[in-house]
Amino acid sequence: APVRASLLRVLYVRNLPFNISSEELYALFGKYGAIRQIRLGSSKETRGTAYVVYEDIFDAKTAVDHLSGFNVQNRYLIILYYNSTRHKQKVSLKDQEVELRRMQERHGVDGEQHA
Ligand code: ADE
Repeated sequence: APVRASLLRVLYVRNLPFNISSEELYALFGKYGAIRQIRLGSSKETRGTAYVVYEDIFDAKTAVDHLSGFNVQNRYLIILYYNSTRHKQKVSLKDQEVELRRMQERHGVDGEQHA
């Protein structure tokens, strides 16, 4: 059956403990319905965040309602719906940083102050 494209099935989770495993996330978020996919951030910028994709938008809503503010290892989960605009802003910031590093290396800028 074709997959409904609604982004309402995708959650963006913040404030996760850095040492949480994707198995633990499946166990926690799976309480509210079938999970299609979880992507746990692993880079310096994305650690502590995850994208959780449900099969069903109503299960995603139930998870937002139950897990917002949920305490995990003394941290309180922040759960937002996926927002493609905010996602793209973040990706474009990252691209700009990469380009800046490239230019600094090409022109021999070392990040130190020069007199
Ligand atoms: N980055 C910050 N907030 C976001 C959101 N709601 N969805 C995707 N990426 C984000």
